[in-house]
Amino acid sequence: MKILVTGGTGYIGSHTVVELQNRGYDVVIADNLSNSYEYVVDRIEQITGKRPDFHRIDLTHKEQTADLFKQHSVLSGVIHFAAFKAVGESMENPLDYYRNNLDSLINVLEGMKNNSIRNIVFSSSCTVYGQPDELPVKETSPIKEAWSPYGNTKQMSEDIIRFAVNAHGLKSIALRYFNPIGAHDSALIGELPLGVPNNLVPFITQTAIGKRKSLKVFGSDYNTHDGTAIRDYIHVVDLAQAHVVAIDRMIDNRSKLDFEIFNLGTGNGFSVLDVVKSFEKVAGQKLNYELTDRRPGDIEKVWADTSFANAELGWSAKRNIDDMMRSAWKWELALSDNK
Ligand code: UFG
Repeated sequence: MKILVTGGTGYIGSHTVVELQNRGYDVVIADNLSNSYEYVVDRIEQITGKRPDFHRIDLTHKEQTADLFKQHSVLSGVIHFAAFKAVGESMENPLDYYRNNLDSLINVLEGMKNNSIRNIVFSSSCTVYGQPDELPVKETSPIKEAWSPYGNTKQMSEDIIRFAVNAHGLKSIALRYFNPIGAHDSALIGELPLGVPNNLVPFITQTAIGKRKSLKVFGSDYNTHDGTAIRDYIHVVDLAQAHVVAIDRMIDNRSKLDFEIFNLGTGNGFSVLDVVKSFEKVAGQKLNYELTDRRPGDIEKVWADTSFANAELGWSAKRNIDDMMRSAWKWELALSDNK
């Protein structure tokens, strides 16, 4: 059984390809390498002993995408990761975000429709909830007005899928990720931020290794136990495994609805300083950090109600915050060894 993974050389995509291959699926990757590298394909082969079929194509390009589907017209499903994902950048270049994230989705759905491919897992985000009124946040919590074009593309994508599913007889599962961090235990794949990292964990590990002087903790006056903002961090391997569970569910016809939505988190909230403490513990070293102003656009706190995903998917996150930080640190050390 063959699965197309768009964005399969990216951070979450590459970990998912590993888990799919470990489960016995054949994988076709489509990626334009806009934020990833072709050597990731070699690393996946090193980990799994199997080389995914890699196609460097731009999914916003209608003909290229149609061609890919012509070459792979028999697929058991698609997992669609390919998208831009930086919140701040999306505020500066909103049109690029709408064009890239929506055109690629539409072309993929069209390829599916034209080739009678039914199943698609979509990479969504807890950003669709904004700052929820009630915590933990459930799948049924209201979708709030988007805080960024990036978040808006996730909301719009879910809507596009919902209507395409109805009209074209497709089935879909949208997975709303909380904060994916960490890396594969082999330290052969992980997150590769370009330039100065926006996200907390790569910033922590780059500070610890000496690439950055000091971590800025954005905001210490939030209404939380230590004043710093709270998120639900989830190990990228747990997240990747949930994608395999989701695709299995659709292939085995166990979906209860043609369009299902699940939160993917651990259900536990950790503050920025909790994450720093976990890092210091597992790395055995102190981290330079300073408390600074809030980052514009940040919400105070969010964590998932995972009960629906746990019960329906029979999946739950297994790795704790220390496991996450340990693997992130191992990955940073491996990156510096390779230089
Ligand atoms: N933070 C710092 N210092 C940094 C970087 C981050 O204190 O240098 C803080 C942030 O203020 C926030 C927390 O660490 O409180 C997590 O920040 P990240 O940037 O790692 O993650 P976000 O929660 O802002 O964003 C993530 C994803 C987005 C997604 C969003 C949904 O990166 O793609 O979750 O809430 F949209």
